Amino acid sequence: MKIAIVGATGLVGQNIINLCQQFFSSDVEYTFFASSKSAGKKLKINQSELTVKELNKENIESYNIALFSAGGERSKEFANIFIENGSFVVDNSSAFRMNESVPLVVYGVNQNIITKDTKLISNPNCTTMGLVMALKPLHDQYNLKAITPVAYQAVSGSGSNGILSLQREIEMGDNLKPDYTEGYYTNPIARNVIPLAGNLLDNGYSDEEMKFCNESRKILDIDDLIVEPSNARVGVVTGHGTFCSAVFENTIDIKEAINVLNSFEGVEYWDKSLPTPLDAEGRNEVLVSRLRKGLSSNKIINFWVVSDNLLKGAALNAVQIAKHISEL
Ligand SMILES: NC(=O)c1ccc[n+]([C@@H]2O[C@H](COP(=O)([O-])OP(=O)(O)OC[C@H]3O[C@@H](n4cnc5c(N)ncnc54)[C@H](OP(=O)(O)O)[C@@H]3O)[C@@H](O)[C@H]2O)c1
Repeated sequence: MKIAIVGATGLVGQNIINLCQQFFSSDVEYTFFASSKSAGKKLKINQSELTVKELNKENIESYNIALFSAGGERSKEFANIFIENGSFVVDNSSAFRMNESVPLVVYGVNQNIITKDTKLISNPNCTTMGLVMALKPLHDQYNLKAITPVAYQAVSGSGSNGILSLQREIEMGDNLKPDYTEGYYTNPIARNVIPLAGNLLDNGYSDEEMKFCNESRKILDIDDLIVEPSNARVGVVTGHGTFCSAVFENTIDIKEAINVLNSFEGVEYWDKSLPTPLDAEGRNEVLVSRLRKGLSSNKIINFWVVSDNLLKGAALNAVQIAKHISEL
């Protein structure tokens, strides 16, 4: 089998390389792509060193699967070329997520919609993915009607530049003032919480917030799901956390809901300690805690969910999908 990793030098790409070593046998042939800046760089996989190729039309051969994490523009330009050359493409960008003919897949939730003919598959937004993992088993049990998610997004969700900015600002110590504008974000991110993640749209919501709305409806297949999202960016390196208030059609039993969550593969309910982004970092599981019955209704539950945005939010889900495709 041949696998191409597009964006191999990036944060997500590096995690994809690590996970491919765990998920696939060592006889898989890999090709790494990145920008011209990284062409010629050597990256290790399964004890061998591979030379990174520049992503351009001339370099694209035939692969079984291509895993894309090089930004939406590259996906739009190159995904079809890989498909025309016989490859499945699993894309981490938002380029095709809301395209009706493209399945938006969270492995563990809806991978069964992938068929041999589904050549292009979109990986959902990292914050949505963690939340949907917790919502799916609860929806199956109680029938989900509405959610109010409030997300705390880590800087690695913005790629390497987000991390570099946080590191630089931490080094500035007390010299970092609220009017600092040299960083990656609209406001300083070290020692801070910015009450906006992503770019503001005309409707006053950010694109990250609208991903919560559109993508959770598509993944859970609930067209009329009410979603009232708010997303903040926090000075955390990795691990997106979300407080969510969820309304269901049926009455909720908290003990049963915890059992339902714990029985769902890929989700862990923590009742003895509080899972934070640091706990989630490096873990494949989505961690849930603080499940409480609503104060106003026994059809509402409030909870906290946190997951590694680079793993279940991106690379892990992509590699799980790739493994699934390889077994179709
Ligand atoms: N970070 C997350 O939590 C997360 C979660 C879900 C989805 N995603 C998506 O995954 C993608 C990558 O994110 P990331 O966090 O890994 O970003 P990143 O660390 O900034 O890495 C970007 C990657 O894209 C490559 N690239 C950039 N321009 C290119 C070009 N013109 N041609 C070929 N390759 C090019 C880079 O190669 P060079 O090193 O050569 O520049 C690098 O490998 C984005 O679409 C992002 O939206 C990220």
